[in-house]
This record gives sequence, structure tokens and C-alpha cells, in this order.
Amino acid sequence: ITGSAELYDRGSTYNVFVGKKQLIEGMDKALPGMCVNERRLVKIPPHLAYGKEGYGDVIPPDAVLHFDVLLLDIWNPEDKVQVKTYHRPERCGREVRVSDFVRYHYNGTLLDGTLFDSSHTRLRTYDTYVGIGWLIAGMDQGLLGMCVGEKRIITMPPFLGYGENGDGSDIPGQASLVFDVVLLDLHNPKDGIAVEKQQVPEKCPRRSKAGDYMRYHYNGTLLDGTPFDSSYSRNSTYNTYIGMGYLIAGMDEGLLGVCIGERRRVTIPPHLAYGEEGTGTTVPGSAVLVFDVHVVDFHNPSDTVQVAISFKPEVCEPLAKKGDFVKYHYNASLLDGTFIDSTHRYGKTYNVVLGAGQVVLGMEMGLQDMCVGEKRRLVVPPHLAYGERGIDGEVPGSAVLVFDVELVDMEEGLPEGYMFVWNDDVSPDLFVEMDKNKDSQVEPSEFSDYILRQVNEGKGRLAPGFDRHKIIENMFGNQDRNGDGKITEDEFRLKADESVDHDEL
Ligand SMILES: *[C@@H]1O[C@H](CO)[C@@H](O)[C@H](O)[C@H]1NC(C)=O
Ligand SMILES: *[C@@H]1O[C@H](CO)[C@@H](O)[C@H](O)[C@H]1NC(C)=O
Ligand SMILES: *[C@@H]1O[C@H](CO)[C@@H](O)[C@H](O)[C@H]1NC(C)=O
Ligand SMILES: *[C@@H]1O[C@H](CO)[C@@H](O)[C@H](O)[C@H]1NC(C)=O
Repeated sequence: ITGSAELYDRGSTYNVFVGKKQLIEGMDKALPGMCVNERRLVKIPPHLAYGKEGYGDVIPPDAVLHFDVLLLDIWNPEDKVQVKTYHRPERCGREVRVSDFVRYHYNGTLLDGTLFDSSHTRLRTYDTYVGIGWLIAGMDQGLLGMCVGEKRIITMPPFLGYGENGDGSDIPGQASLVFDVVLLDLHNPKDGIAVEKQQVPEKCPRRSKAGDYMRYHYNGTLLDGTPFDSSYSRNSTYNTYIGMGYLIAGMDEGLLGVCIGERRRVTIPPHLAYGEEGTGTTVPGSAVLVFDVHVVDFHNPSDTVQVAISFKPEVCEPLAKKGDFVKYHYNASLLDGTFIDSTHRYGKTYNVVLGAGQVVLGMEMGLQDMCVGEKRRLVVPPHLAYGERGIDGEVPGSAVLVFDVELVDMEEGLPEGYMFVWNDDVSPDLFVEMDKNKDSQVEPSEFSDYILRQVNEGKGRLAPGFDRHKIIENMFGNQDRNGDGKITEDEFRLKADESVDHDEL
């Protein structure tokens, strides 16, 4: 047993081994059995103290000695580090090994309870390598085997702490040390990312690759569970290219190979995240980051419309082409199934002229070559739908859309560029036929009546899907060269000779 007894009038402790004849016999008998912070009043007769001789000028012969002893510290050269775990989390995955990097909080006290240091006073964790001599030997040993969230008391004798001389300030020489430690973070510089797949959809036709553009939600926490960021707090997915250096390296890697709808946990060591510096006020330096990710959708800028035919009538013609007037039903949703819109809600079909820019490009492409009665599923990337902006309150920016379409009806369009065509040969007496009141000029009403009659009698056709009166107005305008609101025979002939524009007779 060793002991140190305070010699108050010297203002420092008395440090000595007990039972090794370094003390007077009476003290060697009095100290065993004492515990730290115990105080004993000891009375020693001369034959167990300095006897007949006394001691110099200080202790006369045959003196009975009285000691007031307070035990402050006690250790043995055989002692080892003592570890007492008083809290171990349920999930205790990885444990500290030699050469790991750890972040922890601690309170350091002497054996008698005097606090000499605390990481809390610096308002930051103590960050260090373990087991390679960066720490005092007692800590290098005492931290081994700890897991994140674990709390331990690590007690060490001075020769595993600061030794004979202490640390020169708050830790006296020959002091045993007691550290109350909670481990907050742990990684090894050799670590890569860790991926834990939590939910993978059964159907996964495609896995993400570098260069894809992804929309995902995430919750970011530190290893001890402290949240540092979440996409949910912003009410919108995080949207970015992956595998191209726009993200921290660990995330760029962790988002590769995911399925749409997948949930995974990506654990990223600091050298693949925000390094020794950390970022903002929420990610401390050297922190391991845990991202719980939910992949909402992704696409590649080179994607085109994916067409899957779900029903095809036995006789499937004619096929829809540019210029045709098509009527269809659709249900629109996001890839995760979120409902966007449906024609069934309005009880009528959606009608457009193909190729006229009346719907998003992806829909135009997907309707091509459909026949009446056919059903298709179209997957349309955002650059062929509503782009990065989406539609406020309806379609999120950069969203991939899914359209289930059914072609209900179709009217064949006119050849490209034509708004009116003759089905039969053109009458040689057109002008005369139009000029009903025989005043040698054709007024708008005469013109319009005539064209509509031709259409009704099946002799001519107007381009389907457009306002017929607008078309006829344009036709009239083209013929009425001087713009005076009537067509003369001269204007009529001139225009017929040029015959370049198609909004004419
Ligand atoms: C250290 O002391 C602080 C303040 O009293 C306390 O909150 C903390 O739990 C103690 N233990 C550790 C390991 O930090
Ligand atoms: C997110 O949405 C919730 C509920 O609609 C709302 O209370 C909150 O203010 C929104 N937060 C942001 C950052 O827009
Ligand atoms: C994020 O946390 C919220 C709230 O706990 C939870 O509803 C959501 O599912 C979490 N998201 C992920 C991707 O884990
Ligand atoms: C749209 O969804 C409704 C309800 O599920 C369904 O009856 C209808 O056939 C769908 N329409 C198309 C075009 O797929």
C-alpha cells in the first residue's frame, strides 16, 4: 500500500510508501485500512516513533506524537487501469480499437474528488487518436473497447497518468486520476463509408449511377444521435447530381446503386465528409455523419420518354402522328405514386393536336404511333416535362412524371403545314362560286360560308383541333393582299400563282 499524507504546514502532500520502513513504525501501523478522504487522529508512543533519541531540534526524547492524517490518494505499483462502465447503450456496434480516432467528453478528478479538468469548460469534445501514444497511457488503455454512447469511469495510478511531477498545473505529482468519460464519436482513418440498406423496393428496374440527377429526403445525425440537418425541415427534397463532386465524397458514393423508393443509412467518416473543420454550427470537426436517406426519384439528363404498352387492340391503326387531333385520358403521378392529376376528374378527355406544342414534349413523344384503344405507361424525365421549376403547388421541380394514357379518339391531321385541303379537284370557277352577290368581290362572310359549305359537303377539310373561324380568317387575310377587307379577282389570281403558303386556296 502506498499513501500520501498531507503535511499542512508544508503546504503540500506527503507522498510515501506504507509498510516499507519509510515511516516511523507507528505510522506504518496506523495507516493501513484507511480510505481516501478518511481522517484519522493518531497517537504514537515514543517506542514506535523516535524513542529516547528524539529527532534533532524538532522532536525531544521520549516524545508521544500526535498526527492528524487525511488520506488523499492511494495506489500500488502493481495497479492497472480500472474501467467501470456505468452506461452501455443497447446498440453497441463498433468498439474502440488501437489507432481509432475518437471524440469524447470527460470530467477529470483526483481520487479525493477534486476536479482538475473538464472538456465541458471548453465547450467542445476532446478529439484524439487512441492507443498510439497521443494520450497518457491510462487513457490509451482505458478507452479501448468503448462504443459510442457508452459512459465509463477510468481510474489510473500516477505512473499511467502524469507521474511523479504531475502536469505542471492542476495535476499534482504522484496523483491517481479518475476520468468520467462519455464517447460521442468513433472512426478509423482507414474507414470507408458504411451502407445499411433499410428498405429496398421489390421492383427496381434501374439503379442510380454517377451523373444521375436525384431527389431525396434525408435526416442527418451525428453518431450519438444528435440531429444536424434534415431535408424535411425545408419541406422539399434535396435535389442534386450524384457522383460528380457536388456532394461530400461519402454521399456521392453512398447514393450510387440505389433504387427509386429505397431507404438506406449511409455512415460517413469525417475524411469523406466535412473533415477536421466540420461545417456550420451543427457539424463539429472530425465528426462521423449518419444520413438516413429516402430516394424519391432520379433520372439522367440523357433519358428520353420510356414507353410501356399496357394494352394494344388487335387491329391497331391508324397510328397517331404529327398533325393528328388526338383525344386521350390520363392519370399523372410521381414515381413514388403521389397523385398529380387525372382527366377522369373532369369527366372528359384531353384533346390536342400532336406536334403543335400544346402539351409537354414528353407527352407528345409518348402519344406518337398510338392507336385508338391503346393504353400506355409513359415515364417522362423532367427535361421533357416541367423542368427544374415544376408547377407551383402541383409538380415538384425536377420531378420525373408517370402518365398512364389511353387514346380514346383520333382525327387525322392535314399534311404538315396545311390548314385546309381539298378532297376533290378544285373547281375552276372558284371566284365566281364564292361571289354570291355577284359584285365582283368576295367579302369575309361569303368566303367563310363557302369554305364551311365545302367542309360540310366533304369536298374539303380544315386542320382538326383548331378554331375553324380563326383558320378561315387567316385564309381570307392571306388572299386579301391589300388588306381592304375584300378579295378581288386579281388578288385571287395573283395569290394562286405564287402558291407557297398553305393557308390559301
Ligand atoms: C461531467 O460534468 C458535467 C457537468 O457537471 C456533467 O454534465 C457530465 O455529465 C459529466 N460527465 C461527463 C462524462 O461529461
Ligand atoms: C413546412 O410545412 C409545414 C406544414 O405545411 C409548415 O408548418 C412549415 O412552416 C413549413 N416549413 C417551411 C420551412 O416551409
Ligand atoms: C426522418 O425523420 C422523420 C421524423 O422522425 C421520419 O418521419 C422520416 O421517415 C425520417 N426519414 C428518413 C429518410 O429516415
Ligand atoms: C386512371 O385511374 C382510374 C382509377 O384507378 C382508372 O379507372 C383509369 O382507367 C385510369 N386511366 C388511365 C388512362 O389509365
